[in-house]
Amino acid sequence: MKSRAARALFRRPALNRVQCASAPCTIFRHHKKWCHHPAKNTKTVHNMPNNTPQKPSENNQVNQFIGTRRLSVAPMLDWTDRHYRYLARQITRHTWLYSEMVNAGAINYGDKDRFLMFNEGEQPVALQLGGSEPTELAQAAKAGAAYGYNEINLNCGCPSPRVQKGAFGACLMNEADLVADCLNAMQDAVQIPVTVKHRIGIDRQTDYQPLADFVGTLRGKTACRTFIVHARNAWLDGLSPKENRDVPPLKYEYVYRLKQEFPDLEIIINGGITTNEQTAAHLQHVDGVMIGREAYHNPMVMREWDRLFYGDDAAPVEYADLVGKLYAYSQAQIQAGRGTTLRHIVRHSLGLMHGLNKARVWRRMLSDANLLKDNDGSLILEAWREVERANSWA
Ligand SMILES: Cc1cc2nc3c(=O)[nH]c(=O)nc-3n(C[C@H](O)[C@H](O)[C@H](O)COP(=O)(O)O)c2cc1C
Repeated sequence: MKSRAARALFRRPALNRVQCASAPCTIFRHHKKWCHHPAKNTKTVHNMPNNTPQKPSENNQVNQFIGTRRLSVAPMLDWTDRHYRYLARQITRHTWLYSEMVNAGAINYGDKDRFLMFNEGEQPVALQLGGSEPTELAQAAKAGAAYGYNEINLNCGCPSPRVQKGAFGACLMNEADLVADCLNAMQDAVQIPVTVKHRIGIDRQTDYQPLADFVGTLRGKTACRTFIVHARNAWLDGLSPKENRDVPPLKYEYVYRLKQEFPDLEIIINGGITTNEQTAAHLQHVDGVMIGREAYHNPMVMREWDRLFYGDDAAPVEYADLVGKLYAYSQAQIQAGRGTTLRHIVRHSLGLMHGLNKARVWRRMLSDANLLKDNDGSLILEAWREVERANSWA
């Protein structure tokens, strides 16, 4: 067992040392489709992506943010699987993507490929873990790092009864010391950043101070420097997980205040953010913005993010090109086996034509069980032809 001082020495350099997101990594060079073998050389690291917090006020050269979590897509169970992340990555090159929450035990004792596999070109991508047992979490974090994830995130915000039964998720906000033990064990096991996602409070506790104490404790006892804060409480007594994303009031000012009081931390705000204007406004106060439901239901909202928030002048993806990629991806995935069906892929694309004429036809065709049963990606092209004909660029 290392002393705390030795652990701190060991951990600190890891903050800027993350696997390269932009260049093809060693792991990928040998594999055509999947990153499904543990990386041999996870220590081949570059300074990109950079985990160093950026001061919002120093925002005169926006492309300094490439490689940071300035924009991220939230972890969403059943939604942000690798097929959704493939789609998102075709739309935005730089946005940080999060996996669904995966229980540490499922990784340690289950089919690792099933839980950890991701697509080439998907990075920067973070693995979110659920759990509260330091050894289990450390083991799962190590597996995630070996698969090539760029970050391991600990879920301290999920309010579901199932998660509460396992004594993790949002109820961990009442146990800062245990969270510190978990984060330390995880960070000792990997060389990529270990981060935390949490709420602003639990149940009807509405004061700012317990939130500051939680963050302050973790800051003092761990090397964690990235805090993703869903700006509403989790009410553990009676609201469903879905209600818990809408009913408790948003208090963005608490998250801004965290950034003011802990300027050395990377503070990322989350909850109810849907437009680029809102994102830009939040970025005046915090280091990053995480968006969940809007990025899922209206993926093309991400189309402008690279230009607006990362200073990347590359032309945004065209609908027709995106549809072509989605078609090719579907065919490849279905042929590759592993039980992937067309429905697994296109269910994440139903909102892709949001705002266009015939968006409803697109949605209907791609969710029609009869049409999907042939498992033929050409359905995507057929649905697209309907949309293309009905819009002015056709
Ligand atoms: C379907 C769904 C599943 C979610 N699953 C997770 C999860 O696995 N881990 C997590 O930390 N948050 C989860 N969340 C919460 C989101 O990460 C995010 O905090 C929340 O949706 C608020 O952001 P938004 O208003 O931008 O959607 C989930 C949200 C949704 C809608």
